[in-house]
Order: sequence, then C-alpha cells, then structure tokens
Amino acid sequence: EKQGFKHFMLKEIYEQPGVVRASLEAYFNTEVNSGESFQSPVKLGLPEQFYADLEQIHIVACGTSWHAALIGKYLLEQLAGISTQVHYASEYRYAPSPPTANTLIIGVTQSGETADTLAALAMEKERRQGKEAKYQARLLGITNRPESSLGHLVPHIINTLAGIEIGVAATKTFVAQLMAFYALAIDLAYHRQTVAPDKLADIIQGLRQIPKEIEATLESQEKLTEHLAHEFAETQDFIFLGRGINFPIALEGALKLKEISYIHAEGYPAGEMKHGPIALLDAKVPVVAIAFPGTVYEKVISNAQEAKARDSRLIGVTPVSDGEAGEIFNDLLPVSSVDELLSPILTVVPLQLLAYHIAARRGLDVDQPRNLAKSVTVE
Ligand code: M6R
Repeated sequence: EKQGFKHFMLKEIYEQPGVVRASLEAYFNTEVNSGESFQSPVKLGLPEQFYADLEQIHIVACGTSWHAALIGKYLLEQLAGISTQVHYASEYRYAPSPPTANTLIIGVTQSGETADTLAALAMEKERRQGKEAKYQARLLGITNRPESSLGHLVPHIINTLAGIEIGVAATKTFVAQLMAFYALAIDLAYHRQTVAPDKLADIIQGLRQIPKEIEATLESQEKLTEHLAHEFAETQDFIFLGRGINFPIALEGALKLKEISYIHAEGYPAGEMKHGPIALLDAKVPVVAIAFPGTVYEKVISNAQEAKARDSRLIGVTPVSDGEAGEIFNDLLPVSSVDELLSPILTVVPLQLLAYHIAARRGLDVDQPRNLAKSVTVE
C-alpha cells in the first residue's frame, strides 16, 4: 500500500500535486468569463445567507488545521475584506467570543472527530438555537471526512479532497485545507466585490500552475533535504521564521519536525525574534527562514541577517538564489517563483521533507510517532 515509498508520510507528501488538481477541479469552474458577465468562478454550493451582510468570521481548529486556518485568515481578510479571528478550539470552547448574527463560524478538522473542535462547534450551534435562520446557517465545517461527527453537527461542509491520510503527521490534508480556503476566500471576494474579477481569474490561473510547481519542488528537494537531514540528525533545537502569509508555514514546519523527529523546534514571526527568542541563537541552533518575494521579503532577509550575526546556520526556503539571499543563506531549499499569495502551498513542501528525512534518519517511527494519535477524540 505504500507503493514503493518507505513510509506513508512520504507517499502522502508526494500525493500533494494530485490533491491540488482534485481540489481545482471540484472547487473552480473551468469557464472563467471576464467583464460584465463574470460569474462566480467558485462552486462550493454555499447558500446566499453566507454572503449577505457577513461581518466577521471566527475559525476554530487544533494543530495543523489551526495553521491552515491562519492562512485562511490571511486570505479572507486580504482578499474578501472580512475581519477573521482564529482560535484554538480548546480555548474557544471555554471562552467564546460574544455571539453576533453576522458572524460565520468555521471549524477546520481533517478527521472531523477532534473532540475540542467538535465541542467548540456544538457550543456555537447550541447558542444559535431559536435565533433567525441565517444565524443558524452560519456554521461551516472544512473536513476531509464529511461522514464524520463534524458532518452531523454543522449544516454546511466544504469537503477537502486529500483522500485517506495514514501518517499521523498531517501533510496532504493541510494542502487540501489550504485549497478549501483559497476557494472560500475567492468566492467571498467575488460576492463582496472586494477584488476585481480579472484579478480573481489571475489568482485561479496561478493556482492551476501549482501542481506542477509542487512536482518540481519535490524533484529538486528530495536530495537536498536528505542531505541536510544527514547533517541535522543530532541537532537539538531548530527555529523556523516566516512573515505574513508564510508565518503559519514557519509554525507548521516546526510542528512537523517536533512531532516526528522529537527535536525541539519553534516557529516565530520573524519580526518577533528580537523580542526575546533571539537569545536562544548560537552556532548550535539552525534557523530556517521562509523568504518569499512580495510584501515582507526584505524584512525577512534582514531578520535572517540578525540570526546570522549570532552564528546560526541559515537555511532559506526561497525562490531567490542570488543577491542578498544568495549571500546570507548557508543552504537553499529553492521553490518556484509564484504569486506570494499562493506561496504557502509550495513553501510547506521542503519543510515536510526536511522533517521526514530527519525523522527517518534518526530511525524513528515516522508514521506512528510516540504519544500521538491520528485523531484526538479526547479533550
Ligand atoms: O483531525 P484534525 O485536523 O482536527 O486534527 C488536529 C490535530 O490533532 C492535527 O492537525 C495534529 O496536530 C497533527 N498530528 C499535525 O501533524
């Protein structure tokens, strides 16, 4: 069943181009017309109530799904102009935000069985009982298992199309969740007219290129990450830095590494380093920085320079190989140059491979790491 791969996790990493293709087919209309006759390019089947006078969104999730939600927040705010908050489900269930009719609640859970996420959504459902219909309708689940408990709890689902994921470390389900958020944010941007139709068509066109760019990344990274894994197999601490839409990828890279390799790793928004964590840095602590051209590229480079000044070995996940990037990074994990808005689907791939190869190198049980279960059905 592993189809020649040593572990399910590696197989699932390699399935990601296919997951993106399946999502593109399911979520987007192939005929994208422009100008006056422009129809929503997205087919999520959500009712009109979702779009009318929506004022804010709260997202609840745990773990990797929470990281996907952070990228979702970026897209929903920057594309659709809707104020969005992301909550740990385990926190939100005991300290929810005040209820308002024009708030959409989204639960993200690949398994659809995570106890805290279900409890947070059940609490929301309960406090909406007896209110106006639109209020009750504004509960949405994003899941890889529509037949799960989540499917029975909420009135609307976006089905993610990762197929069954066996490795405990979420990889292809994360990419599938990102695709759901692109579709939702583009759909809302279309209905709210916050982005010009031509620009939305460009974004979708960019998404259509992503599968082959992931394939190119997989091809170029396999050897590079394996080589780095050899050097870092005994490293005790790692720092991951990112900003903007790639900050959650720093968190995700750190989570992947700690859960399967048992190496201590922290993800930070690069600009926060100087407010404390920089004290951790020395020659023994490598820093992985995601430096993607766009709104924060120069800032990340200058934050990376601060780390370099503390003797940290610097690994850059970036499409840039010359100039400052070429000079300051000790090692490059190159990714293709795409629109910054789409970059997280690419930048996460080398970090998944790095975590995988380090754990495999350490001889660990990659698919079934200690102390973890595929779905956390207890509080
Ligand atoms: O099934 P869910 O998406 O609700 O699971 C949430 C987390 O338990 C999960 O993402 C966990 O963090 C993964 N093992 C991360 O790789």
